[in-house]
Amino acid sequence: MNILVTGGAGFIGSHTCISLLESGYSVIVADNFCNSESKILEKVMEITGKRVITYEIDVTNEEQVNSIFKNHQLEAVIHFAGYKAVGESVNKPLDYYYNNILSTLVIARACQMYSVNKIVFSSSATVYGDQNSPFVEDMNLLPTTNPYGETKAMSERILMDMCVSDSRFSVALLRYFNPVGAHSSGLIGEEPRGIPNNLMPYITKVAKGELENLNIFGDNYSTVDGTGVRDYIHVMDLAKGHVAALQNKKNGAHVYNLGTGYGTSVLEMVKAFEEVNNINIPYKIVDKRSGDIGVCYADVTKASRELNWEAQQNIRDMCRDAWRYEKYRSSVKV
Ligand code: UD1
Repeated sequence: MNILVTGGAGFIGSHTCISLLESGYSVIVADNFCNSESKILEKVMEITGKRVITYEIDVTNEEQVNSIFKNHQLEAVIHFAGYKAVGESVNKPLDYYYNNILSTLVIARACQMYSVNKIVFSSSATVYGDQNSPFVEDMNLLPTTNPYGETKAMSERILMDMCVSDSRFSVALLRYFNPVGAHSSGLIGEEPRGIPNNLMPYITKVAKGELENLNIFGDNYSTVDGTGVRDYIHVMDLAKGHVAALQNKKNGAHVYNLGTGYGTSVLEMVKAFEEVNNINIPYKIVDKRSGDIGVCYADVTKASRELNWEAQQNIRDMCRDAWRYEKYRSSVKV
């Protein structure tokens, strides 16, 4: 069964390709490598011993996307391709709306035209906005504070409306919490360009000595130690969540939180990283980051009940695997 994976060379996309191949699917990747590299897909093939067919195309290009649908009998599409930097989206809103919305429209129209009735969409917990955790799928969505979040909410809406109008479709809208870690081989992982915005890649750069210290954004939230709390999920657990969503054939659009269901503070994460990897992570407490919320974690009962999926790996696994990958990157000078 052929699965088209848009953005398959990205962080979550590449790990999902591994889970798909290991579950017996054939994988076709469409990626323009604007924020990734084609060699990641070579690593995916090395890890799995299976082939990935790759199209270097832009998913906003309808003609190029349609040609993939013509060339291959597709079972489903997993749509990851999109811009994802929250801060950048505030400075370049039109790029974000153009790229992220148009790609969803192009994929949805191609699916309709070629009767590919299953779509799994990469959404984000950011669509919940600043509400009390745990976040439950049927909560009203609040406007997010940035265009990136809006593109996720709008794309969800587009796919929901498509399902209302066309009952053949089965769409899973997956709201990710905070994906971290790397494949246990250490061959693929997260590759942010420049100075990382997210916590785990920043910690691994400090561990490596490339950055002097971690800046912890605020220590007076109403949390266990005052630092921000998030629901970190191992990227391989997240990858498996996509396979579970793919196998669920229920018609209509269905939203699922993919998280672990518990929160970890920044200081708890630093401590876990230090203990597991036996490395000191110097840090400073600095001002809150604008747009941050104090606490964000998932209610995961729906995914467990309907997809028969639960995250298996804990914070220590995430810290170990993230660091293993960072060391591998340094050794091969990626
Ligand atoms: C961010 C995005 C979210 C995206 C997710 C991907 C925002 C508002 N949200 O979530 O849309 O899906 O990344 O994983 O940007 N922290 C520090 N120091 C740092 C970096 C982070 O203290 O150098 C803290 C943050 O304040 C937060 C926690 O670590 O409490 C996690 O931050 P981060 O990894 O950036 O993720 P989110 O902001 O939750």
